[in-house]
Amino acid sequence: MMASSCSSFFLLLASSLLLFSPSNVASSIHQLPNPTTLSFEQGYTQLFGDSNLMLHRNGKTVHLSLDQRTGAGFVSQDLYLHGFFSASIKLPSDYAAGVVVAFYMSNGDAFEKTHDELDFEFLGNIRGKEWRVQTNIYGNGSTSIGREERYGFWFDPTEDFHQYSILWSHNRIIFYIDSIPIREFARTQAMGGQFPSKPMNLYATIWDGSNWATSGGRYKVNYKYAPYVAEFADLVLHGCAVDPSDHSPTCQGSDAELYNGITLSTSQRSTMKKFRKKYMTYSYCHDLERYPASLPECSIDPESKFSTHGSRRTKRHYWSSVGTAVLD
Ligand SMILES: *[C@@H]1O[C@H](CO)[C@@H](O)[C@H](O)[C@H]1NC(C)=O
Repeated sequence: MMASSCSSFFLLLASSLLLFSPSNVASSIHQLPNPTTLSFEQGYTQLFGDSNLMLHRNGKTVHLSLDQRTGAGFVSQDLYLHGFFSASIKLPSDYAAGVVVAFYMSNGDAFEKTHDELDFEFLGNIRGKEWRVQTNIYGNGSTSIGREERYGFWFDPTEDFHQYSILWSHNRIIFYIDSIPIREFARTQAMGGQFPSKPMNLYATIWDGSNWATSGGRYKVNYKYAPYVAEFADLVLHGCAVDPSDHSPTCQGSDAELYNGITLSTSQRSTMKKFRKKYMTYSYCHDLERYPASLPECSIDPESKFSTHGSRRTKRHYWSSVGTAVLD
């Protein structure tokens, strides 16, 4: 008994899910110190989906699958107040209408009425390869005020792993895909409590979003193509964990300041702008039917090509022909 639990402990360590700071993003957001390496069991717990959550490659990759029976998900054991959170994700290939893969932070369990949330939501598509990704932000229970943006990809997200990251500091939130910042959300006085400011857990899930994910629910999940498998690797929890009893931060001083120090350089801003110009297909800031008086942080370019529904067509299949050069 003793020997077996001991050896399984070492096996676990050896096969641990490495939580490392990916060099391409870390260098672009200054050098984060080396984060602690945790195994899946040390850092996360399964949320739902029993055998639809599987560890692979000696525990370095987590597969979450959706079939007729259930989706699956996992959650960080700790709550964090600010930090850098990242995963390499490979999305289910082929037909995936109605399928939602989510990588997000939330504190809905700890703060039911005043919850905060930061989302990457991947929305499956009838044409299989043309997944969309949505980012969203809720603060202090502002669930009636969605701040959604949707984008196409400059690559096929089902072909290979790509890194999706969230930087969350006291002052700003930055969403990254690979080393490219795609959205920056800065705290302003006018948004008050709608800037996420309470400790959150990190989550990864796959679920049936038939009711809204693809063309507003027109295309449902087709279980003929199940199981839908999303692969997660290189999970990074580089945050300020809080004490579970009183939610006080366990990191102070320079550690707490670290995340505030991460800002975008001029060239990163310009790349972000190019990305948004080419790939953003929806922005709440342009959705005048939903928000006739646009939200305080929104500034609208009068020459923008968005409709009053906030949406815009983009050319398709950039990734198949041009690859990453498209952002140059
Ligand atoms: C968050 O919402 C609660 C309840 O509506 C309110 O009492 C509190 O002042 C809000 N916090 C902030 C920072 O706005």
